[in-house]
Amino acid sequence: MDNQKKVIWITGASSGIGEALAYEFNKKGAHLILSARRTKELERVQAACDNSEETVRILPLDLKQTESMQAKTAEALELFGHIDMLINNGGVSQRAYAVDAKLETVRELMEVNFFGTIALTKAVLPEFIRQKSGHIVVISSVMGKIGTKYRSAYAASKHALHGWFDCLRQEVYEHNIDITLVCPGFVKTNVTVNALNAEGEKHEKMESAHKNAMPPEEFAKRLLPKLARQKEEVYIGGSEILAVYMKRLAPKLLNRILRRVKVT
Ligand SMILES: NC(=O)c1ccc[n+]([C@@H]2O[C@H](COP(=O)([O-])OP(=O)(O)OC[C@H]3O[C@@H](n4cnc5c(N)ncnc54)[C@H](OP(=O)(O)O)[C@@H]3O)[C@@H](O)[C@H]2O)c1
Repeated sequence: MDNQKKVIWITGASSGIGEALAYEFNKKGAHLILSARRTKELERVQAACDNSEETVRILPLDLKQTESMQAKTAEALELFGHIDMLINNGGVSQRAYAVDAKLETVRELMEVNFFGTIALTKAVLPEFIRQKSGHIVVISSVMGKIGTKYRSAYAASKHALHGWFDCLRQEVYEHNIDITLVCPGFVKTNVTVNALNAEGEKHEKMESAHKNAMPPEEFAKRLLPKLARQKEEVYIGGSEILAVYMKRLAPKLLNRILRRVKVT
């Protein structure tokens, strides 16, 4: 991929994985459109990029406002004239037992992680079909492939993304559109701090698995070459990635292990 000619739209670019991806693509000379809700944080990320006046634009949006995605896409197209890659990264995690999580909290997770992502993708798709090219990246999770305690709605939203994008992949192959589903393991971001509890409030705690996890910069460095090869599915993390393979080969054993390990 010749990043110097690429226009890359990243959601969830105000922190964590999205921010790290912005810096990594910026180093490669890509043109960036950075989206999330917090304008000030997007401006901070923009300012930290090289040559940002020419190559980095911000476009605040709320993934819950699915009806705004057409207009946001029109604005995004105005910024550099076209889009080559959409990275659907914005998302929220969960820390609550299924029995306790309010239905409104479950809906909120589905709204942001699933409906927000597909609404934006649906808005961008006609343009990719028209230009006969495009790469759609979805930051899913290992939770998109397996399930553990405290994350039922989050895992459901990520599993749903796999179903939707696996179907889309078949439909858009003839239009030369690539789809990459990315499953991170533990990455050291504020994802657990921002995760929703049963009531839909922030968990406000960085759990130990994340405190000691892979830095987002390393995650971004490892992801870029895989995107350049248009991989269909990517797993990046530590030993927790083994769970994805175990789910396929020995699902009962995996469930037995997951019941016993301390999940936070
Ligand atoms: N860190 C991990 O261990 C891990 C593992 C697997 C998967 N993931 C996935 O990686 C992605 C990025 O998470 P992260 O780890 O970087 O956590 P993070 O630091 O909490 O970042 C989440 C990003 O999503 C944005 N966001 C949240 N709600 C939004 C909304 N309604 N509209 C628009 N943007 C919204 C946030 O920006 P604003 O608050 O400014 O809107 C922020 O930029 C998520 O999809 C997450 O599920 C993370």
